[in-house]
Amino acid sequence: MEQQPILIDLPEELTGPRVVVRPFREEDARQVWEAVDESRERLEPWLPWVAGYRSPDDAVSFVRRARASFLLREDLVVGIFERESGGLLGGSGLHRIDWRIRAFEIGYWLRNGAEGRGYMRETVQLLTWLAFERLGANRVEIRMDPENVRSRRVPEGLGFVFEGTLRNCTAGRDGGPRDSHVFALIPEDYGRLDWPDEIRRYVEA
Ligand SMILES: CC(C)(COP(=O)(O)OP(=O)(O)OC[C@H]1O[C@@H](n2cnc3c(N)ncnc32)[C@H](O)[C@@H]1OP(=O)(O)O)[C@@H](O)C(=O)NCCC(=O)NCCS
Repeated sequence: MEQQPILIDLPEELTGPRVVVRPFREEDARQVWEAVDESRERLEPWLPWVAGYRSPDDAVSFVRRARASFLLREDLVVGIFERESGGLLGGSGLHRIDWRIRAFEIGYWLRNGAEGRGYMRETVQLLTWLAFERLGANRVEIRMDPENVRSRRVPEGLGFVFEGTLRNCTAGRDGGPRDSHVFALIPEDYGRLDWPDEIRRYVEA
């Protein structure tokens, strides 16, 4: 019989060369609020949930929900922390999980000041490693708005395959339909990449 998702073992955290990726804890709420609040202008065009952050309590309810979803294995929401300082850099995770076929979607954001340093690239490497090497993934996908050039560069740079454009598949800021670009890896693609060796050295150390 298929293993129940709730019984799936997951590492407490993943450590890369410069970032640590782990589920949120209650005490992260203050940093989450500060990060989202200071970054809202940059994040809002691409992430509809940002508009729902109106007070620090919204971050408290987010971290509690995120932790609960992680424990239930329904949505593997994680925070990204700078390895050296422990400070919050942003958020990511393996979302929209289909455990039957082991398909995952990676989402991400970085706070102001954390962009342009390769932190997201490293986070996506860690989560992709987790999906293929610990969770038996058959598919890891990343979607973005066609105008989100910065987001698109992350999967492109890591060798994800551009599969196409889903037309009118998601609601934009004004509620109207927007297209999404879809990038993905399947095990055969992942096996051809050269970067997993380097990531393995850190996470399996
Ligand atoms: C999308 C987003 C996470 C990308 O962040 P990012 O910092 O550009 O992504 P990376 O971590 O891959 O960093 C790449 C950049 O770091 C630079 N860099 C610096 N040091 C580096 C290092 N050691 N390794 C790799 N890249 C490095 C790269 O040159 C590149 O810079 P460039 O974009 O000026 O060419 C960020 O722009 C963001 O938070 N956007 C708003 C939210 C959003 O759109 N989320 C996605 C919705 S689909």
